[in-house]
Amino acid sequence: MHSTRLVIFGATGDLTRRFLVPALYRLHRAGLLEPDLQIVIYARRPLTLETFLDGMEGALRETGRDMSAWGPFARRFVAYVQGGLDAEGVRQLRDWIDGNAVFYLALPPGLFAEAAEYLALAGLHEEKSGYRRLVIEKPFGQDMQSAHQLQQRVSRYWREEQVYRIDHYLGKETVQNILVFRFANLLMESLWNRNYVDCVQITAAETAGVEDRSGYYDQSGALRDMVQNHLMQLFTLTAMEPPVSLEPDALRSEKVKVLECVRPIPKNAVGAFAVRGQYTRGRLDGVEVPGYLEEPGVSPNSTTETYAAIKLYVDNWRWHGVPFYLRTGKRLAAERSEIAIRFKSPPVQLFRRTPLDHIEPNTVIFEMKPSEAMLLIAQAKTVGLEMGARTVVLRACYREVGEEGFEAYETLLLSILQGDRTYFLRFDEVEMAWEILDPVLRAWQTQNVPMAVYPAGSEGPREAERILDSSTHQWRPLKGEPVGSECE
Ligand code: BG6
Repeated sequence: MHSTRLVIFGATGDLTRRFLVPALYRLHRAGLLEPDLQIVIYARRPLTLETFLDGMEGALRETGRDMSAWGPFARRFVAYVQGGLDAEGVRQLRDWIDGNAVFYLALPPGLFAEAAEYLALAGLHEEKSGYRRLVIEKPFGQDMQSAHQLQQRVSRYWREEQVYRIDHYLGKETVQNILVFRFANLLMESLWNRNYVDCVQITAAETAGVEDRSGYYDQSGALRDMVQNHLMQLFTLTAMEPPVSLEPDALRSEKVKVLECVRPIPKNAVGAFAVRGQYTRGRLDGVEVPGYLEEPGVSPNSTTETYAAIKLYVDNWRWHGVPFYLRTGKRLAAERSEIAIRFKSPPVQLFRRTPLDHIEPNTVIFEMKPSEAMLLIAQAKTVGLEMGARTVVLRACYREVGEEGFEAYETLLLSILQGDRTYFLRFDEVEMAWEILDPVLRAWQTQNVPMAVYPAGSEGPREAERILDSSTHQWRPLKGEPVGSECE
């Protein structure tokens, strides 16, 4: 019987050490990997399998994990194949593949096309003796045109069913929960439209800076790194229609339909829809941190954005007129990822002449960070004789104490091995997301669009307010929201 081989390309990089190997180790410990799954490393650096594994073990140990299963796990690694990205190097893999194989390209984005081609030239894409799958990390292209070129080179050899385009947000349980919450609760679905929703805010705020990834990040920026993929996924899951089934294509087709309804951002009015910013020197948790332009490896006159805010409208019956505000940034005041659906105010202000004259509208929040929860912000009467109101937060923790979920890469690796493409991107999704953002990318590159600045540790640039539709819309504070009781 043939075994299944997982080949990791670029295996000495950050992704492999920080995410892939830890995820595989956890799946192994949980007994979720097939006993015959074996791992082959393909990398440029001249290491032996032993030294590679020593490095991985050390990195994993530092994270404080239980290492008792390391021995049997390490035996799944059967080869360290050293080679560059060229026909001859990649051809060596033929000695190791016979049967099912998954090729995981944990490589810099500029190398995806070549790797896919060299694998195919070695005949490794042919499904004669088992399945052959190709896993491509994000970003898929740098803009619409380059995404097309990449797709052309990949699809010349690989069928769409063989290609797994990763967006790790789709592997997060809290992200998948959006679907369950929306489509398993009649109550919510009936309010989920322009009659009741005032605006939607999607945030992915990070306190970290570019860390040691400036080489990649300075070429990329927040719009390509986070908005085109992760935030667009959160957006489509929030806005899409109920799929007819949970079949991969049913779900993905609904996501594409939403993207098709997004009103194009006018080339000459990008400033009314998008704001870019860069962090300057500031303080985070009392510690002074450098500005983006002072980060090692960043060019001192870089015009790469570390913050992006963008407004989208979905011109369909459900959402016409409702703004979707998306924002993300590095070195912001707090670590916070959430989708906040703000409802309209009640039509009659019954409590106008009472101390309760300002009623905060209801908001439903899917919180992914700092904890995993669903929140309903509501109003309730203050205790006592006065007619007053206070905001109450109903908070449902996503997991109970002691319940352990799976990390995004664990879920996605398992799906790849099982051949489930539900939570991977289809090319038309990627293409539509680029199409929506292309006018912004182009304006930022070619027109003299000012770069807003914000001190590290702040709420982001004030200019982000510019894209808000109404004076009643405000960016939700990253810090200091009422959160109700804490979750695990
Ligand atoms: C990655 C980006 O895709 O997502 C990083 O390249 C970012 O810049 C990360 O930090 C955020 O992921 P998460 O799961 O920590 O929200």
